[in-house]
Amino acid sequence: MKTDPQRAARLSVAPMMDWTDQHCRYFHRLLSRETLLYTEMVTAPALVRGGAVHLLDHDAAEHPVALQLGGSDPRELAQAARLGADAGYDEINLNCGCPSDRVQSGTFGAVLMTHPRLVADCVLAMREAVDVEVTVKCRIGVDDQDPEVVLPDFLDHIARAGCRRVTIHARKAWLQGLSPKENRDIPPLDYDLVHRMKARFPDLHISINGGITSLDEARAHLDAGLDGVMIGRAAYHQPADILCGADPMIFGTGAASDPVEAVRAMLPYIEAHLASGGRLHQITRHMLGAFAGRPGARSWRRMLSEGAVHKGAGPELVEAALAQIVEMPERQAG
Ligand SMILES: Cc1cc2nc3c(=O)[nH]c(=O)nc-3n(C[C@H](O)[C@H](O)[C@H](O)COP(=O)(O)O)c2cc1C
Repeated sequence: MKTDPQRAARLSVAPMMDWTDQHCRYFHRLLSRETLLYTEMVTAPALVRGGAVHLLDHDAAEHPVALQLGGSDPRELAQAARLGADAGYDEINLNCGCPSDRVQSGTFGAVLMTHPRLVADCVLAMREAVDVEVTVKCRIGVDDQDPEVVLPDFLDHIARAGCRRVTIHARKAWLQGLSPKENRDIPPLDYDLVHRMKARFPDLHISINGGITSLDEARAHLDAGLDGVMIGRAAYHQPADILCGADPMIFGTGAASDPVEAVRAMLPYIEAHLASGGRLHQITRHMLGAFAGRPGARSWRRMLSEGAVHKGAGPELVEAALAQIVEMPERQAG
């Protein structure tokens, strides 16, 4: 299916290692037809040197879906991008924001904020290798860099290399002394700087990311002139709050989706997964927050998190947990 990832990027679910796997994305797609979905980061060396092409597996229903790559070798990234495009991804994104130790040691992720010329070379090589759009996800800077200086210079480099779309996680990464988790919370957010970058680079499609927890906040950023909003943790933990209203509120299409219907639509997918030897919790772990804030949510979460790990657990457990939601609407929120 041909899709327009640039249009879809008005709202996107962030790439999140171990979270936005193909099961998670399948579920999110049932909640929003339009929102752009990102894979977890896949490293170029794993694909190119390790031959781990199974990391590219995805379902046709996931489109529009972008592959995020990690790496810093232009030739290897170009090869990885080609593998991704051949596998059917609508966009190839380069990770310049991830601060984990493992990623730093391979000279990729956020440390690339200190190598804008190398990033431009990577973008150029990837663009030459594929027809789909090549995009970048970055921070506003790292360590003692001055974001006011570094970020425009970085954007200038990637724009000159032909990158037309970028997502900016609106905080620095501190490469020493903070865990990856702390690096998502402790460095202060600077939304204003991202908005000023849009004024300075009007031709660049700029999405803002970091700490956005509602569609109202997302709308406010769009109304103030940004092109897109990327939401990570809130979309994962409260998918209904973020994704069910996304199509009408952000894209002006269709009606709000119903998480109960989405869960029911997961049942055939779950059955197929079990039939091919998979386990229930591999899918349901991404659905625990489906009813966050609704009556019965706590029972839903508990039944699935305790029951789905058992061997032989199947769709009947999901249906029983769903009964906690649909049959007890008057109960207090879980
Ligand atoms: C569990 C987890 C894994 C993540 N993995 C990645 C990743 O693979 N690539 C990436 O660019 N960012 C990754 N991130 C960062 C998110 O994409 C996002 O930039 C960050 O969570 C801030 O957005 P939020 O406040 O909306 O969650 C990860 C975040 C989390 C919580």
